Amino acid sequence: MAPPKTLTYLAEQKTLESSFVRDEDERPKIAYNQFSDEIPVISLAGINGADGRRAEICKQIVEACEDWGIFQVVDHGVDTKLISEMTRLAKEFFALPPEEKLRFDMSGGKKGGFIVSSHLKGEAIDNWREMMIYFSYPIYNRDYSRWPDKPKEWIEVTKEYSENLMVVACKLLEILSEAMGLEKEALTKACVDMDQKIVVNYYPKCPQPDLTLGLKRHTDPGTITLLHQDQVGGLQATRDNGKTWITVQPVEGAFVVNLGDHAHFLSNGRFKNADHQAVVNSNHSRLSIATFQNPAPDAIVYPLKVEEGEKPVMEEPITFAEMYRRKMSKDLELANLKKLAK
Ligand code: SIN
Ligand code: FE2
Repeated sequence: MAPPKTLTYLAEQKTLESSFVRDEDERPKIAYNQFSDEIPVISLAGINGADGRRAEICKQIVEACEDWGIFQVVDHGVDTKLISEMTRLAKEFFALPPEEKLRFDMSGGKKGGFIVSSHLKGEAIDNWREMMIYFSYPIYNRDYSRWPDKPKEWIEVTKEYSENLMVVACKLLEILSEAMGLEKEALTKACVDMDQKIVVNYYPKCPQPDLTLGLKRHTDPGTITLLHQDQVGGLQATRDNGKTWITVQPVEGAFVVNLGDHAHFLSNGRFKNADHQAVVNSNHSRLSIATFQNPAPDAIVYPLKVEEGEKPVMEEPITFAEMYRRKMSKDLELANLKKLAK
């Protein structure tokens, strides 16, 4: 079988095909390696201690969530060897010949697998990336036939990684629940049966990185995302609606924690949903592993607590599936309006 055009797409372009060229207002404003230390790096060491350390960690996390909706965590309890194993195996996967990767091709409606340049359905502009998606929780959602069996240790390592990240995510959700003055389990309970999805992004070197994006600007729909990125750099965040951007400093062994729309709504808008994108460059390829912690599709989305004198940020309680559907149709509407305006 000849590989679909999309697989040779990225590597063969000397100048970008028009499908990758973004409108000027969407193009990167700062370089992939112009790092900022504005996003706090928070140590979780002593998180269960009784000596005031938990309160200190909670304070730092809440400040970051109110400000950016992004922070980084270190001393999170996940073995750095496990993280580097995940990264090593992911790199080996993306280096496989096209026909091996295409065994997991998820275009054509398959749930999970490998895809190139994925973008929102109906959207005109391609992202400069390859990616692999798999569903890891709830466990009955695992379809191992969609998990890459090459490199051969990857399935086992992914299982361990996914369990470890679920533990870190739950710890963070406990902190956020406490910060809202609720019982520790409030956010995990609001997720009903917490869903976890792992997306491994590979951004190849790009001949004209100023014209395109690895992943266009967005907020994550779910509760929180734990992102491990290599040392290249490319994750950017904005908190003034895209006027200014910062590039998040890669920190060895850390997870970047992004709050998603679900956490934003449940906190009645107190916690920001991180507004972010990924840029690419012509010097290095880049790898990131995003672990999305989402509520179950039928979990109800509505503020868990509305302070006196405040109004709820949502008109009515809706399911997470409905929240997601509305988000996607709004994004598509905006993309279509943009097309029409051209
Ligand atoms: C993401 O937003 O899912 C990935 C961002 C990145 O690769 O840095
Ligand atoms: Fe994201």
